Amino acid sequence: MPWNGVIAQYRELIDLPPNAPVVTLLEGNTPLIPLPGVAGLLGKGVTLHAKFEGLNPTGSFKDRGMTVAISEAAGRKVQSVICASTGNTAASAAAYAARLGIKCIVLIPQGKVAMGKLAGALAYGARVLQVDGSFDDALTMVVQLSQRHSIALVNSLNPFRLEGQKTGAFEICDAMGKAPDWFCLPVGNAGNITSYWMGFRQYHQLKKTGLPHILGVQAEGSAPLVLGHPVENPETVATAIRIGKPARGEQALDAAQESGGKIIAVSDPTILDMQAMLAAEGLWVEPASAAGIAGLLHEVRNNRIVLDGQSVVTVCTGHGLKDSDIITKRAPAIPLLPPELAALEKALLA
Ligand code: F0G
Repeated sequence: MPWNGVIAQYRELIDLPPNAPVVTLLEGNTPLIPLPGVAGLLGKGVTLHAKFEGLNPTGSFKDRGMTVAISEAAGRKVQSVICASTGNTAASAAAYAARLGIKCIVLIPQGKVAMGKLAGALAYGARVLQVDGSFDDALTMVVQLSQRHSIALVNSLNPFRLEGQKTGAFEICDAMGKAPDWFCLPVGNAGNITSYWMGFRQYHQLKKTGLPHILGVQAEGSAPLVLGHPVENPETVATAIRIGKPARGEQALDAAQESGGKIIAVSDPTILDMQAMLAAEGLWVEPASAAGIAGLLHEVRNNRIVLDGQSVVTVCTGHGLKDSDIITKRAPAIPLLPPELAALEKALLA
């Protein structure tokens, strides 16, 4: 059967008003890519798969939630949508709004959004504004604006976003026949961890697919859920999760606790090391997307989690192309050769 997007695939499990027209870019159905190299570091007989969400239409997992949020908005004849974003939500909202033919406004923290994301939002025709502040400031502003004007909020405070994003859990269970033993992912505004836990529980109720332990991973400089209080000036190289006051923080903590997992933080170098390790297996993801599995490896190395013989799935939330600067700016200068064979031989063989 051809793939028609996550709403068509899971309609009866998604709480979307029946009269809502489906606005889709055929998101979802992303691969579970085996990572035997990193699996070998996690313990004996561990199987590790990455759910590569970078292969969604706009290059991140946000498309799963956006198809449902924009479809619901279409059902209400909404004319414009707004979001605050560290970049991926912006690009996704812009694309689905364009598909429906309505306006999209995005508010981003100045200077902290990776170029591939900003370019996406502009390419899809969004009206982009930046704020001299953090993502958290931007979110506060758009929430207030959406309460005063008829502009629909499509951040993951919008419950329809979660309805879409939980389909990632359904796909994992469908592909593996059951939930993995451990499931790890990056945590920013905490919508995705909340969605996955909803999805795993719903599928388990329906199909007895089991429940994973969930490890949510923040960056050390932006770890409000680990510290137990908001972070005023969050900082991390993983700009996608540079968030000091997660809107769904309580639900994220509940998901981790109820699942027998936890929320931890790892350093920026640990995140970038894992980004390189994944790339060494052919999977290039943006920094935030490496945080989940970086965190799990960190726990294993510190003898806090033992994984021998178990199955692990990590969500790689966004494509490496979103933030190519992080690679090129850190790379050594690329040698420049005259157009002569001798120069090439000298460069390679000398
Ligand atoms: N990974 C990536 C690549 C993201 O873009 C985000 C969030 C997350 C992980 C964390 O997901 O917020 O549901 O806990 N990006 C949002 C945005 C904040 O605006 O694009 P979360």
